[in-house]
Amino acid sequence: MATPVYKAAYAGALKLLLDVLPEGALEHKPVLPLVSGGTAAHLLAVDYAVKPVLGALKAQEIHSGVFAVESQLSVSPSGQPVLVPELATRLTKAVASFADNLKTLHPPLPGPNELRDSLVALRVSV
Ligand SMILES: Cc1cc2nc3c(=O)[nH]c(=O)nc-3n(C[C@H](O)[C@H](O)[C@H](O)COP(=O)(O)O)c2cc1C
Repeated sequence: MATPVYKAAYAGALKLLLDVLPEGALEHKPVLPLVSGGTAAHLLAVDYAVKPVLGALKAQEIHSGVFAVESQLSVSPSGQPVLVPELATRLTKAVASFADNLKTLHPPLPGPNELRDSLVALRVSV
């Protein structure tokens, strides 16, 4: 689940989506929270805003997540995402750990490269 931090909370558009999900929608599903913010001062929004709602939807395992300050992210002229190396390292580790978790599920879900490609292809921000 990915969201920018708006007013120290997750985005209102994400709340609209979460509100229509049934209770238990994330049961048996691991979740990797990805959060961007204007300042690292709101790093803890992952823990105090995002994780509780995932818990309420009964996510099976909530991974520690990745917080990116927006200055660490940009888009190349060809439209590709560009991450500073420190963020790329954290994101790669988090996705690898998430992918390991997905492998334990049945039926098997996409591997890290396939997962990354489909996330990039989505180009969605809420
Ligand atoms: C209305 C609004 C409120 C914001 N509130 C916060 C905030 O409380 N804390 C923070 O770190 N960044 C805040 N930001 C900065 C956004 O988190 C940052 O620009 C965002 O991660 C970029 O993602 P987006 O392009 O999908 O909006 C805010 C931005 C907007 C537009």
